[in-house]
Amino acid sequence: MEQQIKELEKQARKLETTAQDRKSLLEEATDYGEEFLTSLSEKPAFVNSDEKGKGVYDIPFSDKPKKLDDLLDVLNSEVDTPGLNPASGKHAGYIPGGGLYPSAIADYLAAITNRYTGVFFSSPGAVRIENMCIRWMNDLVGYPEGASGNLTSGGSIANLIALVAARDNSEIKARDFDRAVIYTTRQVHHCVVKAIKFAGLREARLRTIPMDEHYRMKADALEEQIQSDKDEGLIPLTIFASAGTTDLGAVDPIDEIGDIADRHDLWFHVDAAYGGFFLLTDHGREVMSGIEKSDSATIDPHKGLFLPYGSGALLVRDGQKLYDSQHMSANYLQDTYKANEEASPADLSPELSKHFRGLRMWLPLQLFGVAPFRAALKEKLLLARYAYSKLQQIDGIELGPEPELSVVFFRYLPEDEDPDTFNKAIVDRIHKDGRVFISSTHINGTVYLRLAILNFRTHLEEVKQIVAILKEMISEVESSKQ
Ligand SMILES: Cc1ncc(COP(=O)(O)O)c(C=O)c1O
Repeated sequence: MEQQIKELEKQARKLETTAQDRKSLLEEATDYGEEFLTSLSEKPAFVNSDEKGKGVYDIPFSDKPKKLDDLLDVLNSEVDTPGLNPASGKHAGYIPGGGLYPSAIADYLAAITNRYTGVFFSSPGAVRIENMCIRWMNDLVGYPEGASGNLTSGGSIANLIALVAARDNSEIKARDFDRAVIYTTRQVHHCVVKAIKFAGLREARLRTIPMDEHYRMKADALEEQIQSDKDEGLIPLTIFASAGTTDLGAVDPIDEIGDIADRHDLWFHVDAAYGGFFLLTDHGREVMSGIEKSDSATIDPHKGLFLPYGSGALLVRDGQKLYDSQHMSANYLQDTYKANEEASPADLSPELSKHFRGLRMWLPLQLFGVAPFRAALKEKLLLARYAYSKLQQIDGIELGPEPELSVVFFRYLPEDEDPDTFNKAIVDRIHKDGRVFISSTHINGTVYLRLAILNFRTHLEEVKQIVAILKEMISEVESSKQ
């Protein structure tokens, strides 16, 4: 048997890599990353291709090892070329993500050391780093001592955990789910509707409260609806407000909603996945004033803190409520319960084993300091206003309200054409052209184009280019119709 084990060991040891292997793998990977970054400003923001990365299937897994060089070629042609380039400063569609370089270093180190960040016992220092990030965000929101939270993979999961915590905190019984009521607006992110299903609340009533002309929840209508639901014997459960809707960047009247939630004893959640980090700016603090009254908030570092995808966060005002909703013990983990000086992520979310997400947030915040983040966010707010003013100067453009945060929405009104068809044609042309990227949406059945400025590489030059290309594409669609 020993002989057989030794034979297998010889094979298995290949997984461990030598110092020389590591050096050359790292060099090749770094060269690839450098080439990507140094040519980024010339790269398109979107690449249309018929093949759409199909070539990845040409190199199936097999027993035979392959060379990193060859694999990087595949990555380049099949993965990092077709489709959207979220690293580009000319990406102003959806809600742009980030991709700070120090976060890549942090992920690299986190993967090498592979600290176990599910429970405090296993890696107390790593869990302290995560808790430090959460405390910093709790301070930003204005939550008191005793607040808690969790670093999630994104905003969708953060919203889901918030809803489950709200449900559990209400102590509602499953037999009453069909009398439970959740209040939001039509502009809430669709992940909240998904979360309602995942939380087993499919039968609950979802009230979409009317909005004002800026697409913000009408607080008086909310209160009337809650009262009328109570009068009918229903069970108001939670309010899901938005601090920066995805479509329009609108911020619901958080302060007033906070008071309503308080009067009616409802769990008040603010989805600030997109808008939350604007709290680092005076303007953001003003439009989101009262956010500290909420019971929980979602805030996405992979949006407004420019981290790579895979970084969301849920913050909860009363940490005990999150713990009571998410904690579960296991026999085989009994040794870990000895160390309880700090909260363990596994007690505050459905995850047990998890990526050490905190490091990719901690490292850039420490290396750069907070000031450049604040400046970048202020810059994005101003760039959105700048874009708004430039779009105003284009004949035929109808603009939505002045951006509250950094999303501008608008449409072109052609003289003799159906505006929806025309605007879809503009966005199709922009995608085909690919130099810049914007996306479209529809609001009450009408097609709008939107410019979402949040990528940390988006500056004045990129915004000027986006506006210029938009103008060019409008003219092209005009001429193609003649
Ligand atoms: C307001 C809002 N909430 C939630 C989400 C979902 O976040 P994620 O994509 O990180 O799951 C988004 C995504 O754009 C968003 O804009």
